[in-house]
Amino acid sequence: MNYANGFGNHHSSEAVPGALPLGQNSPQRVPFGLYAEQWSGSAFTAPRAENRRSWLYRLRPTAQHPPYVPYARDTLLRSGPFDEEPASPNRLRWDPLPLPQAPTDFIDGLVSYGGNGDVAAGDGIGIHLYAINAPMRGRAFCCADGEWLIVPQQGRLRVDTELGRIELEPQQIAVLPRGLRYRVEPLDGSARGYVCENYGAPLRLPELGPIGANGLANPRDFETPLAWFEDRDEPTEVVQKFQGRLWTMELPHSPFDVVAWHGNLAPYRYDLRRFNTINTVSFDHPDPSIFTVLTAPSDTPGTANIDFVIFPPRWMVAERSFRPPWFHRNVMSEFMGLIHGEYDAKAGGFAPAGASLHNQMSGHGPDRASYERAIAADLAPHKIDGAMAFMFESRRVIRPTRFAVRTPLSQLDYDECWSDLDKARLAPAQVPA
Ligand SMILES: [Fe+2]
Repeated sequence: MNYANGFGNHHSSEAVPGALPLGQNSPQRVPFGLYAEQWSGSAFTAPRAENRRSWLYRLRPTAQHPPYVPYARDTLLRSGPFDEEPASPNRLRWDPLPLPQAPTDFIDGLVSYGGNGDVAAGDGIGIHLYAINAPMRGRAFCCADGEWLIVPQQGRLRVDTELGRIELEPQQIAVLPRGLRYRVEPLDGSARGYVCENYGAPLRLPELGPIGANGLANPRDFETPLAWFEDRDEPTEVVQKFQGRLWTMELPHSPFDVVAWHGNLAPYRYDLRRFNTINTVSFDHPDPSIFTVLTAPSDTPGTANIDFVIFPPRWMVAERSFRPPWFHRNVMSEFMGLIHGEYDAKAGGFAPAGASLHNQMSGHGPDRASYERAIAADLAPHKIDGAMAFMFESRRVIRPTRFAVRTPLSQLDYDECWSDLDKARLAPAQVPA
């Protein structure tokens, strides 16, 4: 499969030579009788740096569809406001989500663990996990509530979208903009992973400040698929997430009929192994914001609706320092997942395909085994290798869903991993009377 490189670029792509109008967006007659359709991802008048739109040239306009009706199947997909359960100050952690027994596709294999904000206000996030073993045959999905960041944990996926086809494997991510239609197929029989649904401003690369012009996720490593289409007159169910609910309608044809497109609103993928990791070469552990891949800002500068942060393989060389992530209480809320390997702050219990949630101001940090290991370690240069963990970090408290609170995957003994940390000891004379 072919991709165009670069983050947020204006791309042009045609699956059939001559399909893309040149020099204008909406000619009186589009080549081959295609329909021109603008897809707006920002207000028309958004500043240039924020403005995202693409022009699609397709066999039929999206406008041609029957009414949507409510989706009849049960779903564990939830949206903000997340009010099924009270937000809890407790630290939460979950065992891996098991793969399904019955045939389950991407739409029906989504399970929401929590989120914050409100889809109606265009602010906040939803966090979902997926566990699937079937392709979306004759089905397409579309989310009008936000863009989807997909983080595969197990199994390759092919994501066919209106603008092109993306192949994805664990340690790669995809971002699918609001309103894009797509279908997901597991290429290895089954697949599992994480999704962050971002109701707010679109994800973008973080500023680099004194780091300079290069580093972290480099723009050229983001890949956008090229135009691809199918001319298939077969019934296709289109399931749309709209204001927190699923709706469905049936088209007599494939919705993947965009023959050519141009613009800067498009899906993309990124390989996390290309992340240029920056860390201390002197002492102390920098704040984990140094590992930010993508960020979606809020209206408060520097305070993200969602930061997507990874903990990739890296050298640890800090002198006279406690090298793992330190003990922490945070005004931001932290949802973590593990793609593979062992996270350096947790010797056990945090498994690949598992998850943890440390909400606003809840104390967290290394467990006893990791702590003891770190304070006894010989501080020679050491490579943390063979692991990839990540975090969705949000300015608002992440409220768990009923599923997340009540599932037997919930580790009710999570607090125990800190309970046996020894008390620091001062000499009696040093303690105030
Ligand atoms: Fe933290």
